[in-house]
Amino acid sequence: MKDAAPQPIYLSDYTPPAFLVDQVHLTFRLAPTSTRVLSRIAFRPNPEAADRTFFLHGENLRLVWAKIDGKEVSPEITETGLTCPAPDAPFIWEAEVEIAPEANTALEGLYMSKGMYCTQCEAEGFRKITYYPDRPDVMAPFTVRIESDLPVLLSNGNPVARGAGWAEWQDPWPKPAYLFALVAGELVATSDSFITASGREVALNIWVRPGDEGKTAFAMDALKRSMRWDEETYGREYDLDVFNIVAVDDFNMGAMENKGLNIFNSSCVLASPETATDPTYARIEAIIAHEYFHNWTGNRITCRDWFQLCLKEGLTVFRDQQFSGDMRGHAVHRIEDVMALRARQFREDNGPLAHPVRPESFVEINNFYTATVYEKGAELIGMLKRLVGDEGYARALDLYFARHDGEAATIEDWLKVFEDATGRDLSQFKRWYSQAGTPRLSFTDDFRNGTYTIAFKQETPPTPGQPDKAPQVIPIALGLIGPNGDEVLPTTMLEMTEAEQSFTFGGLSARPIPSVLRGFSAPVILNHDRPAAERAFLLAHDTDPFNKWEAGRALAKDGLIRMVRDHAAPDAAYLDALAALLRDEQLDPAFRALALSLPGEDDIAQTLHDGGHTPDPAAIHAAAEALKDAMADHLAPQLGALYEATACPGPYRPDAADAGKRALRLAALSLLSRVDGPARAEAQFAGADNMTEQFGALGCLLDIGAGEGQLATFYERWRMERLVIDRWFGLQVAHAAPDRAAALAAQLAGHPDFDWKNPNRFRALIGGLSANAAGFHHASGAGYAFVADWLIRLDALNPQTAARMSTAFETWRRYDADRQALIRAQLGRIAATGGLSRDMSEMVGRMLGEG
Ligand code: TRP
Ligand code: ZN
Repeated sequence: MKDAAPQPIYLSDYTPPAFLVDQVHLTFRLAPTSTRVLSRIAFRPNPEAADRTFFLHGENLRLVWAKIDGKEVSPEITETGLTCPAPDAPFIWEAEVEIAPEANTALEGLYMSKGMYCTQCEAEGFRKITYYPDRPDVMAPFTVRIESDLPVLLSNGNPVARGAGWAEWQDPWPKPAYLFALVAGELVATSDSFITASGREVALNIWVRPGDEGKTAFAMDALKRSMRWDEETYGREYDLDVFNIVAVDDFNMGAMENKGLNIFNSSCVLASPETATDPTYARIEAIIAHEYFHNWTGNRITCRDWFQLCLKEGLTVFRDQQFSGDMRGHAVHRIEDVMALRARQFREDNGPLAHPVRPESFVEINNFYTATVYEKGAELIGMLKRLVGDEGYARALDLYFARHDGEAATIEDWLKVFEDATGRDLSQFKRWYSQAGTPRLSFTDDFRNGTYTIAFKQETPPTPGQPDKAPQVIPIALGLIGPNGDEVLPTTMLEMTEAEQSFTFGGLSARPIPSVLRGFSAPVILNHDRPAAERAFLLAHDTDPFNKWEAGRALAKDGLIRMVRDHAAPDAAYLDALAALLRDEQLDPAFRALALSLPGEDDIAQTLHDGGHTPDPAAIHAAAEALKDAMADHLAPQLGALYEATACPGPYRPDAADAGKRALRLAALSLLSRVDGPARAEAQFAGADNMTEQFGALGCLLDIGAGEGQLATFYERWRMERLVIDRWFGLQVAHAAPDRAAALAAQLAGHPDFDWKNPNRFRALIGGLSANAAGFHHASGAGYAFVADWLIRLDALNPQTAARMSTAFETWRRYDADRQALIRAQLGRIAATGGLSRDMSEMVGRMLGEG
C-alpha cells in the first residue's frame, strides 16, 4: 500500500534528532527468505532537540520483538517506522526483525545478487534492514556480527574475530547508517597493501565472484594511486587497517563509498584489455578515486541532511576530476568533463526537472542524485577555487577538515570555512547553490585609442518555482589575442557580480580577439555570434587548450545549426580548420580526437530550442550525417596516413597516451569507412587484440549499415562475458537508423539474454534507445511507447532505476505539438499506472509540470 500523495520534505523544516546513538551492535543471521537482524543500540537524548519523541525509521520489516533496557515493549508501527515511549535518559534499545533479501528486487537495503548478499543503504535504505534513526546526522560506531556458512563475510571497519560460520567487524569511526555495508558470498580476492604517509600498513582487497579475478589489476592500481594522491594533494590519509572493494552485478548506480567496504557495480571495477574499452578504463579509475576520496569528503565529514548532498558529492566529483586530470592530462580531461556537463546537466537545467544544486524540497531523495547535484556541484567548487586562488583553496580545505571532522555539516559550514580562511564575503556566491538554471552570458566589445572594453551581460532563465533570478558571481577567465596571433593579455580572472558589467584593458596597439571563459571557468552558456573567421582564428591561435577546442566546437555547432535551419551546405571554413588541426603533430592525439567529435544531436536540439526554433530530430540527424560525410570527403586524403600513424604497437596498455592514439585512430576509421566502405573496419575488427579496437570497429561498421556478420561473431565470442554483452545490446540500438531503432530495441528485448531485471542490461537496451535521439524521437512515437512500457514494468520491481531512466522524457517541451502530444500521452499512461512508486510518480509529476 502506498500513500495516495506522498508529501514533500523541506530543507526549511530541518530539526535536530531527538535521540543520538552512542553505539550500534548488529547481528545478521543470513538466509535468503528470512534473514534475522538483531540490533542493540545505545541511545541518549539529544540536548539540542526540543522534541522527545522516540521514532525509528523502518520499512517492510517484520518486528519479532523489541526491548528497552531489557524490558519487552510494544511499539506502534506504521508504514514508515515505529514510535515507542522511551526514557528521558540514556537507554538500550534491542530488537529482532525479519527480512527477505531474496525477494528484494529494488536493490536497496539487504538484497541478493547471484547468490551473494549485499547491501545498498544510501540514501534511505538502512531502514529496510532494521529499525533505526536513518538520517545522516545520527552518527555512531558500529559492531557487526555476521552468521552464515558462506566463506566470505564482510562489513565496515576492521575484522575483529572470526569462527566457523561467523565473523565480527568493528568500525571505530562514527558513521551515519547510510554508510553501513555487509557482503557475504563465495568470493575471491585480489590482495595488495598500501603504506600510508605515516607508515601504517593497509590491507587492500578487491572481492569478485570466481572467474573475474583476472579483471581486478587495473582497479587495484587505481586505488593505490588514489590513496597516494589524496595524501599528497589534500594531506588525507586512510584510517582503517583494511580497505575492501566488492564487485556486484546487480547494482542501481556506479558505486558506493560505505566506510572501509566500497561496493561497486561490476561494470565500474572489472576490466581486462580483451573486454573493456579505453573509456571504461578511464571511468573505472575515476570511480575508484571518487569512492575512495569519499572517505574524507562524505564519511569523516558527512551531510547534516540530504539537502546537503552536494556537500559531499560536488566536492568529491571535483576531487576525482582533479585526480583524473593529474593522471591523464588536464586539457583533455577538462574538455571531456565539460562535454558531459553540457550533455547531462545543461539538459536537466533547461527542462522541467531543473533544480538548484542544493534543492529545497523533495519527495524521494533518490531522484536527486542528479547531474546538477554532482556535476554542477563540482563546478561550484571549481569556481570557488578560481575566486580564492589555489592557496586560499588549500587553506580553506585544511580548515574544513580540521573544523568539521566527525561532523555532519551543511553548505553554510562549507562556505563559512572559505570566508574564514580567505576573508572573502561569499553571500552572493551562495546563490549558485539556491538558484537553478544555466546562466546565459553574452558580451559586446569595443576598441578605441588603445583601450579595449568588453561588456558582459548575464541572465538566467526561469526554472520551475523560480521565475526571477538575481545576478550570480561569475568568474570569467579572459585572454586577449592580437591580430598577429600573439597573446597580448594572458589569462586573467574577471569577477562579474552585476547583471551587466564591463572591463577595460589599455595600452593595446590593435584590436584584440577575446578568448572568453577560458578553461570553462563557469558553468554558463556563452551566447555570442562570432564570424566563422574569428572562431577559426581562435582555433588556430588560442593558447588556452579548452578554448582552442571550444572554438572548433562552436564552428561545428554554428555550421550544423545553419544546415538544419537554413539547409546550408557544410561550412568550408570548419572543414579547412579541421584539416589544419589534424595535420598539427604538436597537438595531443587525444585532443585531436576530441576536436573531430561533433556536438551531440540532443545538444543541437537544445540550442535550436534556446534560439526560438522547434527542433526536428530527424532533420538534425540528417544534418549531422551530412556533415560527417562532408568531413570524410574533405579529410580523406590525410586520414589514411593518420590511421596508420596512430597504431599502437606492442601489447595493449590502458594509459592516456595510447588511449589518445586509439581514440584518434577510431575517429579516422569512422570517417574513412564512410568513403572507403567497410573493408578497413572489418580488418580491424578481425585483427583486434583488445576491446577498444574491436568494439570501435564494430561501431564504425554499424554506422555505415554494415557489420551484420561481425555482430553475430561478436556475440558468439563474448556471450559468457556479461559486461561485453551489455555493450553488444547498447551498441546496436545506439547506432540504429532512426526508423529502425525502436523496432530493433523491441526485437532485442525478446533476446534470451535480455535479463531486464539486471540494471546494467536494462540501461544498455532501454537507455541505449533513449540516447539515440533521432530513433527515440521518431515521429511514429514507437520509441516513446517502447520506453514507457519498460519503465512501467521496471518500476514495479526497481523504482530507483526506473525513475532515473524516465529522464529520457525530460526534454519533451522542446518539440513540436505532435511529439509533445505523443510524449504527454506516455507520461500520462505511466502516471495512471496502479501502484506506481513514489520515485516514478514524483518524476512524472515534475515532468508534466505538476510539482
Ligand atoms: N554515494 C554514491 C556515490 O556518489 C552514489 C549513490 C547514491 C548510490 N545512492 C546510491 C550508489 C544508490 C548505489 C546505489 O558514489
Ligand atoms: Zn559520490
